[in-house]
Amino acid sequence: MVKQKTVWVCNECGNKQFKWTGSCNICKSWNTLAEELEAPKKEGRFESKPPRSVKPVLIEDVDTANFKRIQTGYRELDRLMGGGIVEGSLNLLGGEPGIGKSTMLLQLSKCFADQGLTVLYVCGEESAEQTSLRAKRLGIKSDKIYLYSETLFSQIRAQIDQIHPDVLIVDSVQIVYKGELPSAPGSVTQVREIAMECMHLSKGNGITTFMIGHVTKSGDIAGPRVLEHIVDSVLEFEGDRQHGYRLMRSVKNRFGPTDDVALFQMNETGLSEILNPSLTFLEERMTGSPGSVIIPTIEGTRALLIEVQALVAPSSFASPSRRSTGLDPKRLSLLLAVLEKRMGYQLHALDVFVSIAGGMKITEPAIDLGTIIAIASCYCNKPIPSDTVVMGEVGLGGEVRSIPRIESRIKEAINLGFKRIILSSKNLKGLNKKLTEKITLQGVSHVEEAIKTLLEI
Ligand SMILES: Nc1ncnc2c1ncn2[C@@H]1O[C@H](COP(=O)(O)OP(=O)(O)OP(=O)(O)O)[C@@H](O)[C@H]1O
Ligand SMILES: [Mg+2]
Ligand SMILES: [Zn+2]
Repeated sequence: MVKQKTVWVCNECGNKQFKWTGSCNICKSWNTLAEELEAPKKEGRFESKPPRSVKPVLIEDVDTANFKRIQTGYRELDRLMGGGIVEGSLNLLGGEPGIGKSTMLLQLSKCFADQGLTVLYVCGEESAEQTSLRAKRLGIKSDKIYLYSETLFSQIRAQIDQIHPDVLIVDSVQIVYKGELPSAPGSVTQVREIAMECMHLSKGNGITTFMIGHVTKSGDIAGPRVLEHIVDSVLEFEGDRQHGYRLMRSVKNRFGPTDDVALFQMNETGLSEILNPSLTFLEERMTGSPGSVIIPTIEGTRALLIEVQALVAPSSFASPSRRSTGLDPKRLSLLLAVLEKRMGYQLHALDVFVSIAGGMKITEPAIDLGTIIAIASCYCNKPIPSDTVVMGEVGLGGEVRSIPRIESRIKEAINLGFKRIILSSKNLKGLNKKLTEKITLQGVSHVEEAIKTLLEI
């Protein structure tokens, strides 16, 4: 019998090497090599031959009107994808366990089926009964959606040839495997092969394909990086499981904008889109209480108003706690240091808690000033006026710095009826007159100035 060789496959670039090394020989990334059995050599890796032979064409002759998009019924999702899902495209949806990936694609299946498209939903992770139970809960009934609980690719392929679906959903790409490969399902080689097969199905046969991908602890989609190169679009589903909000982020898109987001809410009856996120986030806001500040922030290409809450209370321990939810703890310590040093606040015996209401996570520095004001407002026990929003980055010297995309933030504040904005004075230059007439813009250049204006001290 031929002895099977083991190889080491890089998670990042897919490089194969026969010896383990700390970093990959090709792409030099560390700890990305996984051990696998080497696949036996075989001719003709792809069973599927593209039905039409493709010849090179002149760039001017390419017919872009042929570019059909399928509307999903979710306005937000269509916008995220650049006006609908392109027919025959290969899409990857990633996300943490239990975030709602299967729910999303099951609901999309219904949208597709309602338009007369045939959907094959491969539910390798669950039995058909489980998926159908979920479909019942979501109120999905259709004679155009086929559920298929199978993980062996050749079987799935056979069904595709029989059913000829317009849309194929693979739940998930990590669980489907090819029998002829010796490595386990979910391994780099398997995932890459399955993704390649899906690409041939979508590009060769024109089947619009969705693959669900699990994410690893570090937040990447499990499997090789090359997976992200193969597909046309990568959508990432994120959010706090305790809160009903879900954020769909487009990380890569060959047919539309990237780094945009769409917001959804998880209910008993499935995911529904949030058309006016700011309103949703501000719904439960308590006005007139110290420690609460509204901040216009940017997620993708859209502006959202979110509430930052701070609580400052005497600590019963020698080392007081500093806790933040939805905000980088390092950023919080920096802002507290600015308050202590530049404003002379005595925070060393106080516990400080800061949280973003609604379970959102904000990484942009534009929320610095608002966070500082929230802490100061609680510290002084004075609420800030409820018709005011605050934005700006804060430097180590306590100076307030300008932030990007100022006009969309101002527009969102106007839309929701706010009357005054506190921002960096550097941001006041060159603003559209139409905007400045509708709202009072107050420029500040230092944290101290902002606190004096807002808390009247
Ligand atoms: N009866 C219910 N009412 C409201 N929400 C529910 C109900 N049942 C499930 N959910 C929501 O659906 C989520 C699970 O959705 P789903 O199975 O689509 O996630 P997933 O991302 O596919 O998970 P996995 O990684 O396990 O496949 C749960 O976390 C919960 O928020
Ligand atoms: Mg699932
Ligand atoms: Zn590599």
